[in-house]
Amino acid sequence: MPETTLTSLQQLKLQGEKIAMLTCYDATFADACCAAGVEMLLIGDSLGMVLQGHDSTLPVSVEDMVYHTACVKRGNKGAMIVADLPFMANATLEQTLNNSARLMKAGAHMVKVEGAAWLAESIRLLAERGIPVCAHLGLTPQAVNILGGYKVQGRGDAQARQLRADAVALEQAGVAMLLLECVPSELAAEITQAVKIPVIGIGAGSDTDGQVLVLHDMLGLSLSGRMPKFVKNFMEGQSSIQGALAAYVREVKAVSFPAAEHGFSA
Ligand code: KIV
Repeated sequence: MPETTLTSLQQLKLQGEKIAMLTCYDATFADACCAAGVEMLLIGDSLGMVLQGHDSTLPVSVEDMVYHTACVKRGNKGAMIVADLPFMANATLEQTLNNSARLMKAGAHMVKVEGAAWLAESIRLLAERGIPVCAHLGLTPQAVNILGGYKVQGRGDAQARQLRADAVALEQAGVAMLLLECVPSELAAEITQAVKIPVIGIGAGSDTDGQVLVLHDMLGLSLSGRMPKFVKNFMEGQSSIQGALAAYVREVKAVSFPAAEHGFSA
């Protein structure tokens, strides 16, 4: 697989070719995802839930993220590695810089932060120091206690206007990529059109520049037995994990995943 870079991602957006991203936490799955053609591997703080068994992402530490980023790096074959700054790892600008540097030294090519336009200053500082940033908007699981649950964000005029404004402000601050989680499909399409940087969606419809899912979810594995509406079990109809990963990439590229039933209305 040719190496994925910011330039190649930008090219995919311009060409209208969808970007396939999955969460990944270890070397063997990194290797398998790359063999299937996954272009971006996210060491998500979702590892707190799917690997560690917590009921939220809040207990995840920077040490956990550094460890799993290093594991993924060892199995990676050309994908872009994105690592989450976990809860409170960006509480101050100094912490943001130090913790991002730790993730980059462990093997990340980009860090992801949850938030909104208030992130602008830290994004500017990171970009100036050579650290590309993906800003995670919409449903931001680290803020679950403020949001009152894992709910669709950006519904209604006021929330939609705010989300659009945040996306544009973050692009101006120098963010390299946006990730929209659980946002009405129409709004996600508008934001994707409005910015020049690639926009990845999860529960955000099929018009974003790319898709991401949590690896365990798309393999049909769930501790709770429940799956969010935006998840598809790619093991169905496949006899191997490798087959499921390849089916995911194929369907993202063909824009047959996500289907309308995986999205949310305004
Ligand atoms: O932590 C994570 O896995 C994520 C995805 C849900 C996008 O942020």
